[in-house]
Amino acid sequence: MIRSTDFVGWFVGLILGLSASVSVAEKPADSSIYGDVERFAEGDALQGAKLYKRYCRGCHGEDGRGGAHTFMPHIENLTKKGYIEFLPDSYLYTAIADGGEAIGKSSYMPAWKSKLSDREVKDIIAHIRAMPTF
Ligand code: HEC
Repeated sequence: MIRSTDFVGWFVGLILGLSASVSVAEKPADSSIYGDVERFAEGDALQGAKLYKRYCRGCHGEDGRGGAHTFMPHIENLTKKGYIEFLPDSYLYTAIADGGEAIGKSSYMPAWKSKLSDREVKDIIAHIRAMPTF
């Protein structure tokens, strides 16, 4: 006779086994802590680095930790460990293309969509993802 506790154990084992194999298949080993946070596939970080230097560095600083602390709020966020990793790329895209107000933040953050193409915004996002966090 099959006892019901055996059946429950088997069933729980089956579910755990299934979910483990699904999550292994979905995520590359080195990005597992970022879970399901959205990342664009496109974007050339090298190209993005050049654009960042030209358009963003003045306020956000060479390393994303800010430069204009005197009058800018929270401008060090771009490479803040435990924070930036968890923002989806579409959020960064809106912040960059439509400006700070579009994400409920400071309007000192300009909207860039008239100056930067879709491709260029994605290149800059790839660069932000490649920068070390602090
Ligand atoms: C004139 C100064 C200035 C320039 C130039 C600038 N930013 Fe910003 N940026 C800001 C400010 C101020 C904020 C809002 C910070 C806050 O309120 O938390 C911000 C916010 C952001 C955010 C959202 C961060 C968050 O924590 O939500 C992103 C992403 C961003 N900027 C990217 C860029 C990129 C990429 C460029 C270059 C294309 C750029 N910024 C150029 C001032 C600037």
